[in-house]
Amino acid sequence: MSYGLLKGKRGIIFGALDENSIAWKTAERVHEEGARFVLTNAPIAMRMGTINQLAEKTGSTIIPADATSLEDLEHLVTESVKVLGGKIDFVLHSIGMSVNVRKGRSYTDQKYDWTAKGWDVSAGSFHKVMQVLYKQDAMSEWGSIVALSYMAAQRVFPDYNDMADNKSFLESVARSFGYFFGRDKKVRVNTISQSPTPTTAGKGVKGFDGFISYAEKMSPLGNASALDCANYTVTLFSDLTRKVTLQNLFHDGGFSNMGVSDAVMQVFEDE
Ligand SMILES: NC(=O)c1ccc[n+]([C@@H]2O[C@H](COP(=O)([O-])OP(=O)(O)OC[C@H]3O[C@@H](n4cnc5c(N)ncnc54)[C@H](O)[C@@H]3O)[C@@H](O)[C@H]2O)c1
Repeated sequence: MSYGLLKGKRGIIFGALDENSIAWKTAERVHEEGARFVLTNAPIAMRMGTINQLAEKTGSTIIPADATSLEDLEHLVTESVKVLGGKIDFVLHSIGMSVNVRKGRSYTDQKYDWTAKGWDVSAGSFHKVMQVLYKQDAMSEWGSIVALSYMAAQRVFPDYNDMADNKSFLESVARSFGYFFGRDKKVRVNTISQSPTPTTAGKGVKGFDGFISYAEKMSPLGNASALDCANYTVTLFSDLTRKVTLQNLFHDGGFSNMGVSDAVMQVFEDE
């Protein structure tokens, strides 16, 4: 269902790789709500994924950018303002990658140049994106910037590895940059802390299948899907949430406030 919540708004969406991506679902929903946007991803993802289909479906332009490259980001923002015909109302940062996770190195055996690379892609890039937007004065007043996070920023999930530290950093950047963006440009900045979701990035985490079932059993409303996340993001891009900023917003069916559930207790009572 469409509510026309984003009619006339312009945006940039990072991180749509394939139809499972949270950014993909968000692009589809944002399109249905009446917004126009530029799609962007790392040049290598252009070859791996199917972003062209999404661009066609939503009438969007694709501008490749490695989110760790200031030069790419400067080009992306300048061109987006031109292509869309005005300042940007919303930005989705939906980017995450750990080389240590990918190559099976545990948290206690990290290769630090991989740690640094993962940090740059997953967390440093969020600061870079905002700094470029801020310096180019490319955001409209009452615009909205959202990045995606995970609860391992607050609590221990051993196999989430160095991504836990990256998410803590990401959430901190949202608060710190959000202050300046709010004070100077009336732009809000938030992170959404999303349930485990079966995407390329999600499934890359060791033990993902067990973990997603555990989270499902723990959450009174069950896990939030990628589409649920897209819907929540639409509200944060809309004018209905203008005074929400500097927040890490849990979007997880209630998981983050649970201690234990009947469904999980049952597993142990049956033992
Ligand atoms: N899937 C989950 O369980 C889950 C849970 C909570 C939060 N998140 C977060 O959601 C976000 C989106 O991930 P997803 O689950 O949709 O997976 P995904 O694999 O579909 O998306 C990750 C994206 O990051 C992009 N990316 C990687 N390196 C990049 C670079 N240098 N420059 C630009 N883009 C780059 C990839 O190309 C890909 O499109 C991530 O921040 C992820 O950590 C995911």
